[in-house]
Amino acid sequence: MNVLILGAGGREHAFSWKIAQSKKLTKLFIAPGNAGTAQVGTNVAIAADDFPAIKNLVLKENISLVIVGPEDPLVKGVHDFFLADPQLKNVPVIGPKKDGAQLEGSKEFSKKFMIKHGIPTAAYASFTKEQLAEGLKYLETVKPPYVLKADGLAAGKGVVILDNVKDAQQELTDMLAHAKFGEASSKVVIEQFLKGIELSVFVLTDGNGYVILPEAKDYKRIGEGDTGLNTGGMGAISPVPFAKGDFLKKVEERVVKPTIAGLKKEGIDYKGFIFIGLMNDGGDPQVIEYNVRMGDPETEVVMPRIKSDILELFEAVGQGKLSEKKIELDDRTCVTVMLVAGGYPGDYEKGKTMTGFETCEGSMLFHAGTKADGDKVVTNGGRVLAVSSIAPTMKEALANSFANAQKIKFEGKYYRKDIGFDLI
Ligand code: AMP
Ligand code: GLY
Repeated sequence: MNVLILGAGGREHAFSWKIAQSKKLTKLFIAPGNAGTAQVGTNVAIAADDFPAIKNLVLKENISLVIVGPEDPLVKGVHDFFLADPQLKNVPVIGPKKDGAQLEGSKEFSKKFMIKHGIPTAAYASFTKEQLAEGLKYLETVKPPYVLKADGLAAGKGVVILDNVKDAQQELTDMLAHAKFGEASSKVVIEQFLKGIELSVFVLTDGNGYVILPEAKDYKRIGEGDTGLNTGGMGAISPVPFAKGDFLKKVEERVVKPTIAGLKKEGIDYKGFIFIGLMNDGGDPQVIEYNVRMGDPETEVVMPRIKSDILELFEAVGQGKLSEKKIELDDRTCVTVMLVAGGYPGDYEKGKTMTGFETCEGSMLFHAGTKADGDKVVTNGGRVLAVSSIAPTMKEALANSFANAQKIKFEGKYYRKDIGFDLI
C-alpha cells in the first residue's frame, strides 16, 4: 500500500524509518518531511494542515493510509475532512477526529473527561476572563505551588508553575485579561500540584481494542540536572526502569481501560494514538495530560522497540480489528539524545551545514529540524537531530548515543550530556 505521513520532525522520521521496514509498504510519502525522511520515502512540499493539497496528493498517488504526526492538523479536523469527502472517506486516517482531539486541544475538556470517567488526576478549577476576580480569590484558598494551564494549544508553553501566590495571581491576570497565550488562554485551568516522577504511556486504539506501546520518559529542560527553560524534549529513554509490571498494570486498569471506555460512552469514535502523561505518585498513576499523537522525542525510542509490523497494526486500526492484534516488543533499552541549535529554546539560527553523518556507527539518526540544500544537509529548526541507540543496557545505549552525538558537527550544536542521569 501507499502511505502518507503528515509532519516534519524527528517523530515523523522515526515513523518513516519503521514503516519503510514493513512488508506491506509500496510507496511512502511525507508531507512536508525533512532531510531524514527523504532517505526512506518521498517528501512532498505540502504543509501538514493544507487539507486541499493533501487531498490532491492522496488521489494522485493512490494513498490508502494517512498517519498524522502533530496535533495541529487533528485539532483543525483533518480526519473529519477525510470523512466528509466522498473521494477520501474510505482512506483510513490514524489520528482522532476533532471531537477526540479535544483531549489535547482543551485542558478543561480533558479534566472534565477524567473526572467524569473516574480517571485519577489532580483536582482543578477553571476560570474565564469574566471570572478573573473569582480566580484570583480561588488562588488564595489553595496551597502552593500553583499550576496554571492555558486551556487551548499554546505550543507546549501554556503551563506555568509558580511558588508565590502574588506571582500566580499576576500570571492568571496576564493569561485571562491580557491574552498572554492569545485565544488559548481565554480560559485557564488551575490545578493541584502533583509530586512524583513523570513518565508517558502510549496507546494505539481503534476505539474498541487497543495495544499499549512501550512507555518512555523524556527530558524536557534545556539544562543538565533538569534545569533551565522547558523545551520540546532533549532526550528520552524506554523502558523506564521505575515503571515495573505492577505500576504499568495499574496504568492499564485505572487509566487506559476507563479512557477507551469513556471515549466510547461519549460517542467519540477514536482511531489513533493516545499519549498519556503520568505522574508516578508513590506507586499510583495520576494523569497530568493527554495528547492525541505520539510524543517527540519519545517516538524516537518507542519505534525502535516495536518488533511487530507497524503497518499491520495501522491497517487493523482502520478496519476496527485491533483487538485481534498483539504487539511484539524488543526488551532492550532504547535512548535518544537530541542535538539542538545554539540558543534554543530561545532565538536560534537555521541553515548551519551539518557533517559527520557517515562517521556515526551503531545509532539511528532521526532528523528533527533539517533540510537538504543541494547535496548538503543544513539545520532547519531548534531541535535538529535525535541520536537513538538500542542496547541490552541503558548504559551501553547511552554510550553509543553520546559517542555519535559528538561526531555530528554543526555550528552552535548543544546537547545534554546527562540524559538518563536520574535513572542510573
Ligand atoms: P502539560 O503541558 O500539561 O504536559 O504540562 C507541562 C508540564 O508541567 C508537565 O510535563 C509537568 O512537568 C508539569 N505539570 C503539569 N501539571 C502538573 C501538576 N498538576 N503538578 C505538577 N506538575 C505538573
Ligand atoms: N515530548 C513531549 C511531547 O511530545 O509533547
